[in-house]
Amino acid sequence: MLLACKNEPKIADQQQDETPAAIEDGNYRPFFHFTPKVGWMNDPNGMFFYNEYYHLYYQYYPDGNTWGPMHWGHAISTDMVTWKEQPIALYPDELGYIFSGSAVVDHENTSGLGERGIAPVIAMYTSHNSKKEESDPTNVETQSIAYSLDEGLSWTKYEDNPVIKNPGIKDFRDPKVYWDAARSQWVMVLAAGQVTHFYASENLKDWKFLSTFGDGIGNHGGVWECPDLFPLPVEGTEDVKWVHLVSISPGGLNGGSATQYFVGDFDGKTFTVDENFAKEMEKAHTFWVDFGKDNYAGVTWSDIPETDGRRLFIGWMSNWQYANEVPTETWRSAMTLPRELKLIASEGSYRLLSIPVKELEGYRGAKFKKDGVAIKNKEQLIDSKTADLRRAEINFTISNLEETVYTFELSNSRGDLLSFGYNHKDQYFFIDRSAAGITNFSDDFGDKMSKAKKGYSEDSLKGTILLDKTSIELFFDDGKTVMTEIFFPKAPFETLALKTENQEVILDHIEVHELKIN
Ligand code: FRU
Repeated sequence: MLLACKNEPKIADQQQDETPAAIEDGNYRPFFHFTPKVGWMNDPNGMFFYNEYYHLYYQYYPDGNTWGPMHWGHAISTDMVTWKEQPIALYPDELGYIFSGSAVVDHENTSGLGERGIAPVIAMYTSHNSKKEESDPTNVETQSIAYSLDEGLSWTKYEDNPVIKNPGIKDFRDPKVYWDAARSQWVMVLAAGQVTHFYASENLKDWKFLSTFGDGIGNHGGVWECPDLFPLPVEGTEDVKWVHLVSISPGGLNGGSATQYFVGDFDGKTFTVDENFAKEMEKAHTFWVDFGKDNYAGVTWSDIPETDGRRLFIGWMSNWQYANEVPTETWRSAMTLPRELKLIASEGSYRLLSIPVKELEGYRGAKFKKDGVAIKNKEQLIDSKTADLRRAEINFTISNLEETVYTFELSNSRGDLLSFGYNHKDQYFFIDRSAAGITNFSDDFGDKMSKAKKGYSEDSLKGTILLDKTSIELFFDDGKTVMTEIFFPKAPFETLALKTENQEVILDHIEVHELKIN
């Protein structure tokens, strides 16, 4: 084992002082969502699992708190909940900044970059040469590789980079590599303008162009970024379908950045979207990994052992509309909680589900629950004496939905209010952070309620609410609709209430677990 990973206290708990950084950490730094100690972070990159460790790299600018020359930062974890930051993995070089990409363990040493029987880990990323932006704009982005012989701790850049030159496309980036076992080939997908390109390789160094996907389908409100491609079993069947994730910014359903997905088949060369899926998408594009404003550029881990078998995802918990302006100074941005992705057949097509990784359950502390709560108008469910709402997992069930709006309200003594819930009259889920604290750093932050149309019929409502100081992650109906948003309250939220429109409804079950994570 090369790396040590303990539950180390975060800065917030080490420092009792009142420095601005400590105060900021106390107020805003999440307990169980990864943040870098200092500096700017965006997309998750290069995630792989090896020898008991989950690796997470990320777009990182260590010398400032806004986007700058990109490095790959690095963190490791044994459970995807508690992370330990590592030294910077990749620094900018003469080919450019180190933009987003992926990593795989080359177990068979197909690349020949392994030594002394050590399987190399290969990272593939975009080299972004900002010097050419003016003079040669369609030749800025090329693809490069780096290899690690110590399980991802330190990296050597390949001497013949770039391994894929630019074919004359301005936005040509974010390679995601996958081992296509059925055809014994490496497959890579990257974003090229507003489509994706597929490539194949035998050795991760020489790549052959295969095909293009995306013309005339899906959302094209902005540039396509950070794609992913992987097979997923259709729950409860013997079928396997291929899921193609594509982030887009702007163009997101609720403004700015968001991640759409396509379901179909991949024959080793071409990704073909499922016919019914395409029809549904044409009727209404409701195929978003997350309907909140703060889950972007998310991709999945490679090399999860077959004995585990999960498809694990993490996203960047921000949005390009305001990421550079959010009111933190020491660091900027957190990742989402890692999630397991599942695929179900639904309404004649398919639906991608996300659920929190089960490892979070290991952190459940004191439990509080209530059954059969009658709500007329408004009922307080939790206060700060019952549970610390800064870090909590709340699960609830409503068995019979009435024709009303179910609004959960988080509030504090400073008058901040975060509302979210489900409008059963008009069949949509929502989050409204317009009054949830500081919003004036951007016109796009609290301007309007985020909505997610319910794309399936269900008479009951189930939900998991994850709260971590400055973020809420909502998983409705076993992950069929997910909404993630950040907020900046002036004081911690202390009470949770449920409100309806003056109608008596029954909340069948609610349970709250404080999460014991520092
Ligand atoms: C997505 C993205 C990627 C790019 C990276 C640069 O958020 O724009 O397409 O590689 O960020 O930091």
